Amino acid sequence: TPPRTFRIAAIPADGVGREVVAAGRAVLDALAGDSGGAFAFDWEEFPWGCEYYARTGTMMADDGLERLKDFDAIYFGAVGWPTVPDHISLWGLRLRICQSFDQWANVRPVHFLPGVVSPLRKADTTELDWVVVRENSEGEYAGLGGRNLSGRGPGGEVAVQSSLFTEVGCERVIRFAFDLARTRDRRKVSSVTKSNAQQYGMVLWDEVFRRVAADHPDVETESVLVDAMSAKFVLRPEELSVVVASNLNADILSDLGSALAGSLGLAASANLNPERRFPSMFEPVHGSAPDIAGRGLANPIGAVGSGALMLEHLGLPDQAARLHRAIEATTAAGILTGDLGGTASTDDVTKALIDALARST
Ligand code: NAI
Ligand code: MG
Repeated sequence: TPPRTFRIAAIPADGVGREVVAAGRAVLDALAGDSGGAFAFDWEEFPWGCEYYARTGTMMADDGLERLKDFDAIYFGAVGWPTVPDHISLWGLRLRICQSFDQWANVRPVHFLPGVVSPLRKADTTELDWVVVRENSEGEYAGLGGRNLSGRGPGGEVAVQSSLFTEVGCERVIRFAFDLARTRDRRKVSSVTKSNAQQYGMVLWDEVFRRVAADHPDVETESVLVDAMSAKFVLRPEELSVVVASNLNADILSDLGSALAGSLGLAASANLNPERRFPSMFEPVHGSAPDIAGRGLANPIGAVGSGALMLEHLGLPDQAARLHRAIEATTAAGILTGDLGGTASTDDVTKALIDALARST
């Protein structure tokens, strides 16, 4: 049979995004190269980001969404650079793609890897394994509000930033979390809100959660306030399996989770349009890391793990598992970047991953 060729749009964007996307592409091409011709990637790279903004005044081409919409997936680096205000760069590229392509479920697994020291005393790669499901289309990042509303004069500016919670938006991401829990060893969903203080949107979320939970009696559930959940991440992480939360709360909790696993540089994520009407987008959780960018120091594992999530989405779960084994073999061998206390470069880790794949065929 002819190889399945997947058309992937690569958007490295800014800072370490470029380094880790290059590394991820090299590892994914090596994997495809040893698949015995079973599949291949046909990449097209787009030069969008803060440098593009400096030249053109926009973060992506005007017809960018039109050009992306027929790809099988989007492989993204990170957006943001000190030359452009962060809210302009984020809304102009990453959030524009997520929102226009209705990538409403953001899946962010936290894996504990062998050879990586966690700041958690109890961390054990066999017990700690959870996934944050982030509502990715509304909530606190709905972009609703405004500034300087009623002309209160100099020094009296007022800003309103509203959250949007719809029953449909809550229900689809909560159902997604339950479906995911049913594929895991521990069938449990923890819902996170702050509904004691945010009495409209988050109370609606809690009500929808209780209703969906009633449809899934085989899945254990809990509803936890976000402040308590942040403590629980540190003190009782072995009780977590699937954690579902609104856009902002899940954004914060997933950075906490990846730091607990050892580094933000390890964390992978998938921005999914589960109906597959639009391409989904796969990206490391971290940002453009201007403090280390351009020096070959970035940890590529978050980007490579995002490649594994892309393989799952493309219907290649065995290849994704192979990639995870290569990641584990590399960290177990002590080939670690500086964020994990090691001395390896981005290229050293990339080469080690490719060697581990070659050994595993
Ligand atoms: P950041 O994630 O870029 O960096 C936070 C810390 O983690 C830094 O010390 C950095 O060196 C370290 N780090 C991040 N990725 C790493 C990697 N692969 N290997 C080793 N260490 C790594 O977050 P920060 O500094 O708050 O934001 C920098 C820029 O990135 C801003 O412009 C921000 O808006 C943008 N950003 C973009 C995101 C995206 O594109 N999805 C997500 C988060 C931030
Ligand atoms: Mg974040």
